[in-house]
Amino acid sequence: MFVRTPEGKERLLPHLDEGNRPKSASAPVVAVLAVDNRFHEHIPHILPIRPQLKERFEGDSAQRDSITSFNGPLQAGCFILAVRASGLAAGPMAGFDAAGIDKEFFRDNDWHSVLVVNIGYPAGPPEFDRLPRVAHEHAVTWV
Ligand SMILES: Cc1cc2nc3c(=O)[nH]c(=O)nc-3n(C[C@H](O)[C@H](O)[C@H](O)COP(=O)(O)O)c2cc1C
Repeated sequence: MFVRTPEGKERLLPHLDEGNRPKSASAPVVAVLAVDNRFHEHIPHILPIRPQLKERFEGDSAQRDSITSFNGPLQAGCFILAVRASGLAAGPMAGFDAAGIDKEFFRDNDWHSVLVVNIGYPAGPPEFDRLPRVAHEHAVTWV
């Protein structure tokens, strides 16, 4: 879901951690990335080679949860890269009340918010320099 109107921002901001509100208030667009727990309803369209999986997933909510809990954050990472590759800034934020957002915006479906991403152009230099990364030898093993 993309939030870009003052009315939409008014509904969204109370559900963000206080320190995150000014960032989303000033962003031209805020993306709320969410997973759809009823994704299987689209299987005949998006996976026409295995349409029968729709029925299998219908009876297995736990497996659907397990799939969305992996695929949702994976797609969120791809989304951030895509936004940045198009020349825009993307500021991901995990500091929000997911249950509050879901109640406010996804009451009529089975979507669950995963990440809030501010999108726009940086207003100025970053607050701080790029933070250190874990050293290569601590993050990678070669066998
Ligand atoms: C998963 C995730 C959650 C984050 N949550 C917040 C947040 O709630 N508030 C915030 O100010 N920054 C948050 N950040 C940090 C920024 O958005 C961060 O400044 C930005 O990721 C820095 O750029 P980089 O992704 O290139 O390191 C989060 C970053 C990530 C990856």
